[in-house]
Amino acid sequence: MTSDQYAVAVPFYDLWHEDGHVPEIREKLPPLLKGSVLEIGAGTGLVTELIADTTDGEVFALEPSLGMRSVLLSRLARRRDLLERVTVLPYGALDVDLDEPVDLIVMIAVLYAIDDRETLWATLARQLVPGGRLVFNFTERPAPAPGDEAELGSYRVGRHTYELWGRTLDVEGERVSARFRYLVRHKGVVISEDVVDTVTHRPSGDTLRAELTEAGFTPEEAPEGLLVWRLAK
Ligand SMILES: C[S@@+](CC[C@H](N)C(=O)[O-])C[C@H]1O[C@@H](n2cnc3c(N)ncnc32)[C@H](O)[C@@H]1O
Repeated sequence: MTSDQYAVAVPFYDLWHEDGHVPEIREKLPPLLKGSVLEIGAGTGLVTELIADTTDGEVFALEPSLGMRSVLLSRLARRRDLLERVTVLPYGALDVDLDEPVDLIVMIAVLYAIDDRETLWATLARQLVPGGRLVFNFTERPAPAPGDEAELGSYRVGRHTYELWGRTLDVEGERVSARFRYLVRHKGVVISEDVVDTVTHRPSGDTLRAELTEAGFTPEEAPEGLLVWRLAK
Protein backbone atom coordinates (compact mmCIF):
# COMPACT_ATOMS: atom_id res chain seq x y z
CA MET A 1 0.00 0.00 0.00
CA THR A 2 1.27 3.47 -0.81
CA SER A 3 -0.04 6.62 0.84
CA ASP A 4 1.81 9.66 -0.39
CA GLN A 5 0.16 12.78 0.84
CA TYR A 6 3.56 13.15 2.59
CA ALA A 7 5.59 13.23 -0.67
CA VAL A 8 5.77 17.02 -0.87
CA ALA A 9 6.98 17.23 2.74
CA VAL A 10 9.85 14.79 2.27
CA PRO A 11 12.60 17.23 1.12
CA PHE A 12 11.73 19.51 4.06
CA TYR A 13 11.24 16.77 6.63
CA ASP A 14 14.68 16.38 8.21
CA LEU A 15 15.38 20.13 8.04
CA TRP A 16 12.21 20.90 9.97
CA HIS A 17 12.12 18.06 12.47
CA GLU A 18 15.80 18.07 13.38
CA ASP A 19 14.77 21.53 14.55
CA GLY A 20 11.51 20.26 16.16
CA HIS A 21 10.52 17.19 18.18
CA VAL A 22 13.46 14.95 17.28
CA PRO A 23 16.16 16.39 19.63
CA GLU A 24 13.78 15.96 22.59
CA ILE A 25 12.97 12.39 21.55
CA ARG A 26 16.71 11.63 21.29
CA GLU A 27 17.06 12.74 24.90
CA LYS A 28 13.99 11.04 26.41
CA LEU A 29 13.36 7.84 24.44
CA PRO A 30 16.60 5.81 24.89
CA PRO A 31 16.02 4.70 28.54
CA LEU A 32 12.71 3.15 27.40
CA LEU A 33 14.23 1.16 24.53
CA LYS A 34 14.73 -2.51 25.29
CA GLY A 35 14.29 -5.74 23.32
CA SER A 36 12.51 -5.96 19.98
CA VAL A 37 10.72 -2.83 18.72
CA LEU A 38 7.97 -2.03 16.25
CA GLU A 39 8.09 1.62 15.19
CA ILE A 40 4.83 2.98 13.77
CA GLY A 41 5.22 5.74 11.16
CA ALA A 42 9.02 5.69 10.94
CA GLY A 43 9.09 8.60 8.47
CA THR A 44 12.57 9.29 7.12
CA GLY A 45 14.17 7.20 9.88
CA LEU A 46 15.32 9.93 12.29
CA VAL A 47 13.90 7.99 15.25
CA THR A 48 14.48 4.57 13.66
CA GLU A 49 18.24 5.10 13.71
CA LEU A 50 18.08 6.10 17.38
CA ILE A 51 16.03 2.99 18.22
CA ALA A 52 18.34 0.64 16.34
CA ASP A 53 21.46 2.23 17.84
CA THR A 54 20.08 1.92 21.37
CA THR A 55 18.54 -1.54 21.50
CA ASP A 56 20.27 -4.61 20.10
CA GLY A 57 16.92 -6.29 19.45
CA GLU A 58 15.19 -6.68 16.10
CA VAL A 59 13.49 -3.50 14.78
CA PHE A 60 10.43 -3.29 12.53
CA ALA A 61 10.05 0.19 11.00
CA LEU A 62 6.58 0.60 9.51
CA GLU A 63 6.10 3.47 7.05
CA PRO A 64 3.28 3.72 4.46
CA SER A 65 4.55 6.75 2.48
CA LEU A 66 6.78 5.82 -0.44
CA GLY A 67 8.63 9.15 -0.27
CA MET A 68 9.33 8.96 3.47
CA ARG A 69 10.24 5.28 3.23
CA SER A 70 12.72 5.97 0.42
CA VAL A 71 14.70 8.32 2.67
CA LEU A 72 14.47 5.79 5.51
CA LEU A 73 15.98 3.09 3.28
CA SER A 74 18.71 5.45 2.07
CA ARG A 75 19.56 6.18 5.71
CA LEU A 76 19.71 2.45 6.47
CA ALA A 77 21.75 1.70 3.33
CA ARG A 78 24.57 3.80 4.81
CA ARG A 79 24.41 1.64 7.94
CA ARG A 80 25.10 -1.94 6.84
CA ASP A 81 25.19 -2.99 10.51
CA LEU A 82 21.58 -1.89 10.97
CA LEU A 83 20.38 -3.58 7.77
CA GLU A 84 21.06 -6.89 9.54
CA ARG A 85 18.16 -6.38 11.95
CA VAL A 86 15.91 -3.52 10.76
CA THR A 87 12.95 -4.62 8.63
CA VAL A 88 10.99 -1.89 6.81
CA LEU A 89 7.25 -2.56 6.58
CA PRO A 90 5.67 -0.74 3.59
CA TYR A 91 2.10 -0.26 4.83
CA GLY A 92 -0.04 1.56 7.40
CA ALA A 93 -0.43 0.84 11.11
CA LEU A 94 -3.85 -0.80 10.76
CA ASP A 95 -2.41 -3.43 8.39
CA VAL A 96 0.45 -4.62 10.58
CA ASP A 97 0.53 -8.32 11.47
CA LEU A 98 4.01 -9.34 12.68
CA ASP A 99 5.23 -12.96 12.59
CA GLU A 100 5.99 -12.75 16.33
CA PRO A 101 5.02 -10.13 18.91
CA VAL A 102 7.57 -7.49 19.98
CA ASP A 103 8.56 -6.15 23.42
CA LEU A 104 7.89 -2.51 22.62
CA ILE A 105 5.98 -0.31 20.17
CA VAL A 106 7.19 3.26 19.53
CA MET A 107 4.98 5.80 17.77
CA ILE A 108 6.40 9.32 17.48
CA ALA A 109 4.46 12.19 15.86
CA VAL A 110 2.00 9.77 14.23
CA LEU A 111 -1.03 9.58 16.54
CA TYR A 112 -2.62 12.65 14.93
CA ALA A 113 -2.57 11.06 11.48
CA ILE A 114 -4.77 8.11 12.45
CA ASP A 115 -8.54 8.42 12.53
CA ASP A 116 -9.64 4.93 13.58
CA ARG A 117 -7.92 4.67 16.98
CA GLU A 118 -10.14 1.84 18.24
CA THR A 119 -8.73 -0.40 15.49
CA LEU A 120 -5.25 1.08 16.03
CA TRP A 121 -5.07 0.16 19.74
CA ALA A 122 -6.50 -3.33 19.11
CA THR A 123 -4.05 -3.92 16.23
CA LEU A 124 -1.07 -2.71 18.26
CA ALA A 125 -2.08 -4.82 21.27
CA ARG A 126 -1.92 -7.91 19.03
CA GLN A 127 1.69 -7.07 18.06
CA LEU A 128 2.92 -6.93 21.69
CA VAL A 129 4.06 -9.70 24.01
CA PRO A 130 1.98 -9.91 27.23
CA GLY A 131 3.29 -7.10 29.45
CA GLY A 132 4.82 -5.33 26.44
CA ARG A 133 4.83 -1.52 26.29
CA LEU A 134 3.50 1.12 23.92
CA VAL A 135 5.34 4.47 23.92
CA PHE A 136 4.17 7.57 22.08
CA ASN A 137 4.53 11.32 22.37
CA PHE A 138 1.57 13.37 23.50
CA THR A 139 1.13 16.85 24.95
CA GLU A 140 -2.31 18.16 25.77
CA ARG A 141 -2.75 21.53 24.09
CA PRO A 142 -5.71 23.82 23.46
CA ALA A 143 -7.22 23.29 20.00
CA PRO A 144 -5.65 25.58 17.41
CA ALA A 145 -7.85 28.37 16.06
CA PRO A 146 -8.36 29.03 12.35
CA GLY A 147 -6.27 32.05 11.45
CA ASP A 148 -3.56 33.65 9.37
CA GLU A 149 -0.71 31.81 7.76
CA ALA A 150 2.48 31.71 9.84
CA GLU A 151 6.04 30.74 8.97
CA LEU A 152 6.88 27.42 10.66
CA GLY A 153 10.50 27.16 9.61
CA SER A 154 13.14 28.53 7.25
CA TYR A 155 16.38 26.74 6.39
CA ARG A 156 19.37 27.61 4.26
CA VAL A 157 20.38 24.93 1.78
CA GLY A 158 23.34 26.31 -0.18
CA ARG A 159 22.08 29.26 -2.26
CA HIS A 160 18.46 28.40 -1.58
CA THR A 161 16.08 28.90 1.32
CA TYR A 162 13.54 26.20 2.20
CA GLU A 163 10.47 27.68 3.89
CA LEU A 164 7.48 26.02 5.48
CA TRP A 165 4.26 27.94 6.10
CA GLY A 166 1.06 26.74 7.69
CA ARG A 167 -2.38 27.81 8.80
CA THR A 168 -5.32 26.18 10.50
CA LEU A 169 -8.36 26.17 8.24
CA ASP A 170 -11.04 24.58 10.37
CA VAL A 171 -11.54 22.84 13.73
CA GLU A 172 -14.44 20.50 14.41
CA GLY A 173 -14.21 18.48 17.62
CA GLU A 174 -10.87 16.67 17.50
CA ARG A 175 -10.61 17.08 13.70
CA VAL A 176 -8.24 19.86 12.58
CA SER A 177 -7.88 20.89 8.91
CA ALA A 178 -4.75 22.82 7.99
CA ARG A 179 -2.94 24.07 4.89
CA PHE A 180 0.84 23.87 4.51
CA ARG A 181 2.95 25.61 1.85
CA TYR A 182 6.42 24.33 1.01
CA LEU A 183 8.55 26.96 -0.74
CA VAL A 184 12.06 27.03 -2.16
CA ARG A 185 13.51 30.49 -2.84
CA HIS A 186 16.55 31.62 -4.81
CA LYS A 187 17.61 35.24 -4.13
CA GLY A 188 14.17 35.80 -2.57
CA VAL A 189 12.28 34.56 -5.64
CA VAL A 190 10.07 31.47 -5.26
CA ILE A 191 11.34 28.73 -7.59
CA SER A 192 9.23 25.88 -6.19
CA GLU A 193 5.92 25.89 -4.33
CA ASP A 194 3.68 23.05 -3.18
CA VAL A 195 0.50 23.34 -1.14
CA VAL A 196 -0.90 20.46 0.90
CA ASP A 197 -4.15 20.34 2.88
CA THR A 198 -4.18 17.94 5.82
CA VAL A 199 -6.68 16.63 8.35
CA THR A 200 -5.38 15.57 11.77
CA HIS A 201 -7.11 14.19 14.86
CA ARG A 202 -6.31 15.67 18.28
CA PRO A 203 -7.85 13.64 21.08
CA SER A 204 -7.80 14.88 24.68
CA GLY A 205 -5.74 13.10 27.32
CA ASP A 206 -8.97 11.84 28.92
CA THR A 207 -10.13 10.35 25.63
CA LEU A 208 -6.80 8.58 25.11
CA ARG A 209 -6.78 7.24 28.68
CA ALA A 210 -10.30 5.81 28.26
CA GLU A 211 -9.47 4.24 24.89
CA LEU A 212 -6.21 2.64 26.02
CA THR A 213 -7.73 1.31 29.24
CA GLU A 214 -10.56 -0.22 27.20
CA ALA A 215 -7.93 -1.82 24.90
CA GLY A 216 -6.21 -3.57 27.86
CA PHE A 217 -3.34 -1.16 28.61
CA THR A 218 -2.36 0.44 31.93
CA PRO A 219 -0.33 3.67 32.27
CA GLU A 220 3.25 3.74 33.58
CA GLU A 221 5.68 6.47 34.63
CA ALA A 222 6.96 8.37 31.61
CA PRO A 223 9.18 11.37 30.89
CA GLU A 224 7.28 14.60 30.18
CA GLY A 225 5.90 14.64 26.65
CA LEU A 226 5.84 10.84 26.33
CA LEU A 227 3.19 8.33 27.38
CA VAL A 228 4.04 4.74 28.30
CA TRP A 229 1.23 2.16 28.44
CA ARG A 230 1.78 -1.50 29.37
CA LEU A 231 -0.33 -4.31 27.95
CA ALA A 232 -1.82 -6.66 30.55
CA LYS A 233 0.21 -9.86 31.15
C1 LIG B 1 5.27 13.54 11.34
S1 LIG B 1 5.83 12.06 10.58
C2 LIG B 1 6.76 11.29 11.91
C3 LIG B 1 7.89 10.42 11.41
C4 LIG B 1 8.81 9.88 12.50
N1 LIG B 1 8.09 9.09 13.46
C5 LIG B 1 9.55 11.00 13.19
O1 LIG B 1 9.23 11.30 14.35
O2 LIG B 1 10.46 11.58 12.57
C6 LIG B 1 4.36 11.09 10.51
C7 LIG B 1 4.57 9.79 9.77
O3 LIG B 1 3.42 8.95 10.01
C8 LIG B 1 3.17 8.26 8.82
N2 LIG B 1 1.77 7.80 8.81
C9 LIG B 1 0.67 8.46 8.38
N3 LIG B 1 -0.42 7.67 8.48
C10 LIG B 1 0.01 6.49 8.99
C11 LIG B 1 -0.63 5.26 9.30
N4 LIG B 1 -1.95 5.10 9.12
N5 LIG B 1 0.12 4.26 9.76
C12 LIG B 1 1.46 4.42 9.96
N6 LIG B 1 2.12 5.56 9.67
C13 LIG B 1 1.40 6.57 9.20
C14 LIG B 1 3.47 9.25 7.72
O4 LIG B 1 3.67 8.62 6.47
C15 LIG B 1 4.69 9.95 8.26
O5 LIG B 1 5.89 9.36 7.84
